[in-house]
Amino acid sequence: MQLAATIAQADALFEILPRPVGFIPTMGALHDGHLALVRRAREECVAVVASVFVNPLQFAAGEDLERYPRDFEGDREKLARAGVDVLFAPPNDAMYPPGFSTAIDAGAIGAGFEGAARPTHFRGVATVVGKLLHLVKPDRLYLGQKDAQQTAVVRRMVRDLAYDARVVVVPTVREADGLALSSRNAYLNLTERAAAPSLHSSMLAFRDALAQGASKAQAYERAKAVLDPLAHLHYLDIVDAQTFEPLETLRDDAFVIAAANFGATRLLDNLWIESL
Ligand code: PAJ
Repeated sequence: MQLAATIAQADALFEILPRPVGFIPTMGALHDGHLALVRRAREECVAVVASVFVNPLQFAAGEDLERYPRDFEGDREKLARAGVDVLFAPPNDAMYPPGFSTAIDAGAIGAGFEGAARPTHFRGVATVVGKLLHLVKPDRLYLGQKDAQQTAVVRRMVRDLAYDARVVVVPTVREADGLALSSRNAYLNLTERAAAPSLHSSMLAFRDALAQGASKAQAYERAKAVLDPLAHLHYLDIVDAQTFEPLETLRDDAFVIAAANFGATRLLDNLWIESL
């Protein structure tokens, strides 16, 4: 695996990669969820590029940018073992040179749910993914379904701004008890960790109630009964998978989405309703 630590090194390497090129953007602290994206890219592409960049633009003041888990040597080893050809790890001032002021606004898709809780978040995500796509020029971009609203924002951006990459969304990798793998799970203490899988079970209860014809309010009550009392639920809803507009009933190509705090840690999860 080659390491590109500057944009000049990256340019030289990306120019000569055999196509199709698959690209997996990450913020590091890699786990099996990230590696599932790498495996999928390895199956479908001739060359695979991954990036590790903790993107300051998608964190607001007071969020966990400073304490976000970092393990560059561990990440490098995992990516090399998973068969990545190039690891792109740009320094901050390469991505955001002095005077940087341009950004990509994610618009309405990025305004609700995670965007309502973190108003500058999707602008930061769209801007960094947009810039990484320019630099890497992949044929396929691999994203995790785990961050459902992010997949909707990036898909829309790729269409709207005519990026030349196909977006591939990979199913969420979970622990045996249902908890979606996330770098932020490392923040949970033992009690919070024990309560966290109830987020997934409550979404299954919500989905099943809707599938049986319950109203959204009734489904919500059934979900709340399953959710651990330690959880502070921010939202539990059903949305169109492409636009992230709330829906009243279950239908194909929708996401059941949820976010809850377990102690100081905000966890997200979703279920994709592919076919009923
Ligand atoms: P990060 O949280 O590091 O996630 C990188 C990719 O891994 C994302 O596409 C995410 O959805 C996926 N992923 C995380 N957990 C997963 C799981 N349990 N199963 C499957 N895929 C999973 O998402 C970001 O970084 C950033 O916003 C980024 C896109 C890199 C832009 O900075």
